[in-house]
Amino acid sequence: MSLPVATSPSAAAGAAPPSLVVGIDFGTHASGFAFRKHGSAAAGAGPVRVSTHDRWPDQPTPDAKTRTALLYQGTRVVAWGWTAWKRWSELPASERQRQSYSYLENFKLLLEDGAEADVDTVCPLPAGVTRVQAVADYLAEMRAYIREHLRRTTGVAMSSDEVLWCLTLPAIWSNAAKARMRDAAHSAGLTVRLDSRSLLLTLEPEAAAVSAVMTAEAAPPGAALRGVDGSTAGAQLRSGDVVLVLDCGGGTADATLHHVRGSGSATRLEEAAIGKGALAGGAHVDAAAWRYVRELLGPSQWDSWSATADPKQMTGLKTKLELAKRAFRGVQAADADRVAAGSFRRLITTAGAQRNDVRLPLPQGLVDRLGAHTLRAVGSAARGSINAQNELVLPAAVAGEQIFDPVVSKVVDLAAEVINDGRRLGNNCNKVLLAGGFARSPYLQSRVRNALPAGIQLLIQSDPGAAVVTGAVLFGGLPSVVSARRSRLGYGVHSALPWSAGDAAHAAKYGFPQQYGAWALGGYFSFVEPGDLVGYDQVVKHPFVPIYRTQTSVPFELYVTPNGSARYVRDPDMRRLAEVELPLPPNWAAQVVGTDYIVEAEMRYGATEITMVASDHRTKDAVAIGVAWAV
Ligand SMILES: Nc1ncnc2c1ncn2[C@@H]1O[C@H](COP(=O)(O)OP(=O)(O)OP(=O)(O)O)[C@@H](O)[C@H]1O
Ligand SMILES: [Mg+2]
Repeated sequence: MSLPVATSPSAAAGAAPPSLVVGIDFGTHASGFAFRKHGSAAAGAGPVRVSTHDRWPDQPTPDAKTRTALLYQGTRVVAWGWTAWKRWSELPASERQRQSYSYLENFKLLLEDGAEADVDTVCPLPAGVTRVQAVADYLAEMRAYIREHLRRTTGVAMSSDEVLWCLTLPAIWSNAAKARMRDAAHSAGLTVRLDSRSLLLTLEPEAAAVSAVMTAEAAPPGAALRGVDGSTAGAQLRSGDVVLVLDCGGGTADATLHHVRGSGSATRLEEAAIGKGALAGGAHVDAAAWRYVRELLGPSQWDSWSATADPKQMTGLKTKLELAKRAFRGVQAADADRVAAGSFRRLITTAGAQRNDVRLPLPQGLVDRLGAHTLRAVGSAARGSINAQNELVLPAAVAGEQIFDPVVSKVVDLAAEVINDGRRLGNNCNKVLLAGGFARSPYLQSRVRNALPAGIQLLIQSDPGAAVVTGAVLFGGLPSVVSARRSRLGYGVHSALPWSAGDAAHAAKYGFPQQYGAWALGGYFSFVEPGDLVGYDQVVKHPFVPIYRTQTSVPFELYVTPNGSARYVRDPDMRRLAEVELPLPPNWAAQVVGTDYIVEAEMRYGATEITMVASDHRTKDAVAIGVAWAV
């Protein structure tokens, strides 16, 4: 069906941008913020400057993000970020229990049902603290920290009515998880009202794309973007490019595909396929590694050691795994280097073992628990064993297959799926941009590289960890930079539809719709179907007529559905979002033949909201309602 579609000028284009935009990247592993004060450099009047922050309390090395960790005593937060990690690591086991401390990591994943199944939150949520409350507690600490930082460094006093907060979300999340995030942001004081316009939500990879197009323009070649092989030639995003952004984080890998349109300050991103995600982050590699080590050393030995281990030894071991994970290059990449160097045989047998195998020095407590005899009997050369220096040595092939590949293969499959979705829509990907901390993994980079069809350039940002939060701020200042999105869901209204033979067959089988003269009651009239490309601030209009001459008003009920062929409001998966009622003038029926009195419903797709407006052009009456649009 073709619908009259009118595109009105962007509301944001004329509106003054907020005086302060603060972006928060709340990550599974690490979280950061960035901000931009408006006034210094307006978009189009020179390079856009976003301030990031990389010196956090108790952080070992400067980084755009601090740890996503909370330390509770009972239900009270006593530390957050790296400080929480440090205090927890230093607390003796006896004190942890006696003082009822709970330390939480990876708790972002609790927001999505089932997402946390595979990863370690270290402690369960303290009794009386819900998942939304834990996220709210973390965001509240972050908010207080940002407020103090801004006061100290820029003299800005943050008042809630002048700040626009922009929070990023994984593409994989369900609407329910996104709503929980909004609730948490509200409880943390980021918004005054739950549906407040002072909070924008955007997808994590989309934010990385925004930062890539808006910062690479202003930077010298290679400074903001480069090939993963270090090349700088063509390392830019230009008009006409179709770029897949692969944000590889701690808990999720998220992919979005964008068509780049225009250049300079007029650059816009148009969504070229619906974004998708997978539960395939660095934390899943950690979990797979611990599972493998536990099996190899013996589950009962491992469990009894870890239950009573000296906290310092346990965190020391985790830090060693983190370093090994970052250095891991896999067998193939290393061998290929060596073949090129012409010394394949020698390196495979000697340096190959040293450079690529995963080595974990075992803590003394674990060594003592296992005892000399068990230590030497553990595993095998093929599965992994313990050497004379009491290091657990996992052959590179085993580490690749058992620990990395189950996760990295999901990332590779995700990229292929979204690239193929784009191809089906005529959008052929020619560049892939890596973002997120796990994207720094040389092993992940080489597997993605090898899986990509020839001709697709693989790019990475100079600071992939800061890309998402920088993009969040840029998006907040100029939401129309994402000029069109693919609607995740279908939106429409409850309406009578012309009765058809199909309706009769459906009614005979399921008991609905109901026939009323020439009409089928209980129909669903679609304004936008799942997957449709919807422009920023696009307006979709349609005329309707009342069906009963006795009607005194026309109710418009807004429905949402994931089903592209939905026809009735009683279809499964159909959800009623809102209702507005347009009053009809008392004498309306006398003015027309039958019920031919036309009223109009329009839907406006803003950056975060859908507004449904019902209007009567004769009386100039109009009623409107806004609902959050699932990004
Ligand atoms: N150089 C590196 N090599 C490999 N992995 C790395 C490297 N640096 C960081 N990581 C891993 O990246 C993950 C963190 O990435 P990032 O900060 O992007 O995640 P996040 O934003 O917290 O998570 P998410 O976006 O999934 O919620 C961690 O698992 C960390 O171990
Ligand atoms: Mg992230």
